[in-house]
Amino acid sequence: MEIYLDNNATTMVDPKVVEAMVPFFGQMYGNPNSLHKFGTQTHAALTKAVDQVYKALNAADADDVIFTSCATESNNWVLKSVWLDHIMHGHKNHIVVSEVEHPSVLTTCRFLEEQGVKVTYLPVNDQGIVEAHTVKSFITDRTALVSIMWANNETGMIFPIKEIGEICREKGVLFHTDAVQAVGKIPVDLQAVHVDFLSFSAHKFHGPKGIGGLYIRNSQALSPLLHGGEHMGGRRSGTLNVPYIVGMGLAMELATQNMSATSAKIRALRDRLEDALLQLPDVFVVGNRANRTPNTLLISIRGVEGEGMLWDLNNAHIGASTGSACASEDLEANTVMLAIGADSELAHTGIRLSLSRFTTEAEVDAVIDAFKKAVGRLRAISSSYAKVQPTHS
Ligand SMILES: Cc1ncc(COP(=O)(O)O)c(C=O)c1O
Repeated sequence: MEIYLDNNATTMVDPKVVEAMVPFFGQMYGNPNSLHKFGTQTHAALTKAVDQVYKALNAADADDVIFTSCATESNNWVLKSVWLDHIMHGHKNHIVVSEVEHPSVLTTCRFLEEQGVKVTYLPVNDQGIVEAHTVKSFITDRTALVSIMWANNETGMIFPIKEIGEICREKGVLFHTDAVQAVGKIPVDLQAVHVDFLSFSAHKFHGPKGIGGLYIRNSQALSPLLHGGEHMGGRRSGTLNVPYIVGMGLAMELATQNMSATSAKIRALRDRLEDALLQLPDVFVVGNRANRTPNTLLISIRGVEGEGMLWDLNNAHIGASTGSACASEDLEANTVMLAIGADSELAHTGIRLSLSRFTTEAEVDAVIDAFKKAVGRLRAISSSYAKVQPTHS
């Protein structure tokens, strides 16, 4: 049995989504901007996908949803265009982010710092989230943008987006949220929160890779990142990727319909896994379960290097991760665990297990068995764990 528990890195494309996309690689290949029948066919499919996305996010007609190639592009777009529109050509000079944002935000911020922008990296609390009052205390009259993720990719911890949105509205500061790990996992209702910009990505909710989007409240101004034709009203040029957009629309619909029943099922499996692993001595889970996305578990196992654990799990045909996919090739400590205040040794032991609606109980039970065996084997050969063991006479 092959078991995939790395769904925060990417997900399997739902077979129903593949089926819906296939015709648009074959007979329905027209450019949706063309006026002939080839174009009108694909234009109709595009319109349906747009409706699916607006409905899933509860976006208003006055808002814009612009398709991008991925959330990395959406995040780059917001940060760089706010710099261009409000800092380079305005009187503001400051951006506020959390220190546990995805590298597509953090690396862009480092780039902006090199251009002279002042960036504040907000600390997280022991639960790995930024508290709303912390955001408030760092906003100044020169702050152009606050960018705080909705849910963290490594811990699954959910940030207080509603409260942060209210603070930004009161202070007249733009608010962007990277909702890549929230959309399709927990309710995202854009009428219930005040968010100016929101990034999402299809491959995190059983859609294809290479397609994402940016929500823009009230279709407000934001200079384009890509100039060119009049695609997407001139906001993001490039011929529209109809098969992927169709796939993303359906994937979002499938992920958000019956969400409470689906997430209850995923949560029950995640909790079963978590409860079983917590019975092992010296293991810790990051973040309070009630405030986590239902599919995620970041566990650290004293004395067991994350990479060693991945190796044993891989040999048992289980895919997991030591952290975000982008960082998992490096033998580095888990940066989110360090931010929470874990010691460096413990931060090298983090293993992220992320489930999906396709995960089964039999798979979870097989992972529990494999995990226990791996912990036993790796601790037996761990010099650091031997040191913390009580000595027996
Ligand atoms: C929180 C978060 N933001 C952004 C991204 C980047 O998404 P994409 O792969 O669509 O560029 C990821 C992917 O791991 C993520 O987890």
